[in-house]
Amino acid sequence: MNEKKIVGEKAVEFIKDGMVVGLGTGTTVYYSIIKLGKLVKEGLNIQGIPTSVQTEELAKQLGIPLVSCNEVEQIDVAIDGADEVNSDLDLIKGGGGALLREKIIAKAANKFIVVATPSKMVGNLGSFQLPVEVAPFGVELTEKHIRKYGINPILRQIEGNPYKTDNGNYIFDCSFPDSLNVKELEEKLNLIPGVVENGLFINMTDIVVSLDDEKNIVLIE
Ligand code: A5P
Repeated sequence: MNEKKIVGEKAVEFIKDGMVVGLGTGTTVYYSIIKLGKLVKEGLNIQGIPTSVQTEELAKQLGIPLVSCNEVEQIDVAIDGADEVNSDLDLIKGGGGALLREKIIAKAANKFIVVATPSKMVGNLGSFQLPVEVAPFGVELTEKHIRKYGINPILRQIEGNPYKTDNGNYIFDCSFPDSLNVKELEEKLNLIPGVVENGLFINMTDIVVSLDDEKNIVLIE
């Protein structure tokens, strides 16, 4: 049973003809995008807004018409995965490094749908290290500020070099103590000069598509 495929494809049922659709990034929403590609070939008329270069390339291969977020009046629905989801439907995202564009699109969408296998559902956010996107300029100063909150930031690396996001920035993967309130942490982190965005998505999710213990599809609102 491919759980990612099941939840990914289910979310596509929310997409109707004529909609502008935010296309997330990752291995779960991948299945939503593949399904959308099939429906477009069968005549579904939508415009997609990709949240990463990776998703843009996939959508182009599938023939999904794309549009810039600056060209549309509204985004009807955005679908995306998550690294963690708590019972308030707050999220940690950014494991794939696309958090900034994902958050811009999720915030703008009239409906934000998260596709999450049961392994993503948690009691408290934070077992997954929180991605924080930072400007390369002054990165060590930014790191010091982040540490002041009791957070332990680790610079994401690829083959010995700092990982660069689609926006040319770096990412700190941050572990933080349970005592920190995630709603406050989301705001505090973004007040630090040099922090571009963090992967806490608080009060943004409308629906989570997941599976229950019997592996039936559930919509959590
Ligand atoms: C991309 O930066 C992330 O926010 C992904 O949406 C998240 O990591 C979930 O990805 P998977 O569906 O691959 O687990």
